[in-house]
Order: sequence, then structure tokens, then C-alpha cells
Amino acid sequence: MSDRKRVSRRQFLNYTLTGVGGFMAAGMLAPMVRFAIDPLLEPTEKGTYHSVVSVDELTNEPKRFDWSIDQVDAWYESKVQKTAWVYKDENGDIVPLSPICTHLGCTVDWASDKSHPEQFHCPCHGGRYTKEGINIAGTPPTAPLAVYEHKVKDGMLYLGDAIPREPRKGA
Ligand code: FES
Repeated sequence: MSDRKRVSRRQFLNYTLTGVGGFMAAGMLAPMVRFAIDPLLEPTEKGTYHSVVSVDELTNEPKRFDWSIDQVDAWYESKVQKTAWVYKDENGDIVPLSPICTHLGCTVDWASDKSHPEQFHCPCHGGRYTKEGINIAGTPPTAPLAVYEHKVKDGMLYLGDAIPREPRKGA
């Protein structure tokens, strides 16, 4: 009789069923995991700039500009509407602000509140921001409006991602 360890019928069945069961479980779970993390596997469009408006159209008064981008979310492709409030400050620098209220995400308007005509106003809960997009103490938002990354090329303003700003101390 040899010294090799013999595998009993029961052990053989256990090993076989465990192996087959594990293989089947992996086969079922793999598509679910892939589906769950699919958007993370897609290359992001970070750093992409979109032509929005001619710089000549900008004044010291914030104006609303809309554009759309193509968005791919897993297998779903769509057009997404984007908006910015843009003006030139006293130094002639371009200030492109996101219209998304930092309280709960409503869309802010410029000068729509008659009692605060030189401010951004959020109609949802009365949030207000200065012209620079700084949240005003005593109103619901706790952070300034995000600012779009931007560049100027051939007289056109290009906007990239909206970058959130740090909450203002004391606001
Ligand atoms: S969402 Fe703007 S104040 Fe609440």
C-alpha cells in the first residue's frame, strides 16, 4: 500500500461541490459588481472646456449663459444643460459663477430679490450671495457659489469644471 494520503469519497464530493459552487457564485456576482462600479471605470471628462460666450458680451453686470455638454453615464448618453453667471470685475477679470445654491442645490438668480438688488438670490429658502458669490451670513447657504475654471481663447470664454469654495468663516 502506498503512503499517499487517500481522499475519501465524502471529501472528494465536498471539494468538488465547493469548487463548482464558488465558480457559479463568481459567475453570478461578477456582472453585478461590474454593473455597480461601471461609471467609475469610464474615463471622466475632467479638464474639458466648453466654448460659452464671446468675451465682448461680458459686462460688469452678471449675465446668465447656458450651454450643453454630452454626458455618457454607463450606456446612457444624454445632453446636460449647464449654466453660469458671468461678469467682469472692476479689474476686468472674468468671474464665472455656478448658479447652484450651496444650501440644497436650487438655482440662484441675479437681482431677482427687489430688497437686495445687488445680490444673487435663491428662491427656495431665501439664500443670498454677494456679487462675488459669497454666501451672506444669516441666510441658509453655508458656502460660497462654486467658480468655474475658465480660459479665454480667440476672444471666446471657455468654461471647465465648477470648483467648490471653502465655507466662509462666521457664515
Ligand atoms: S436651496 Fe438655496 S437657500 Fe435653500
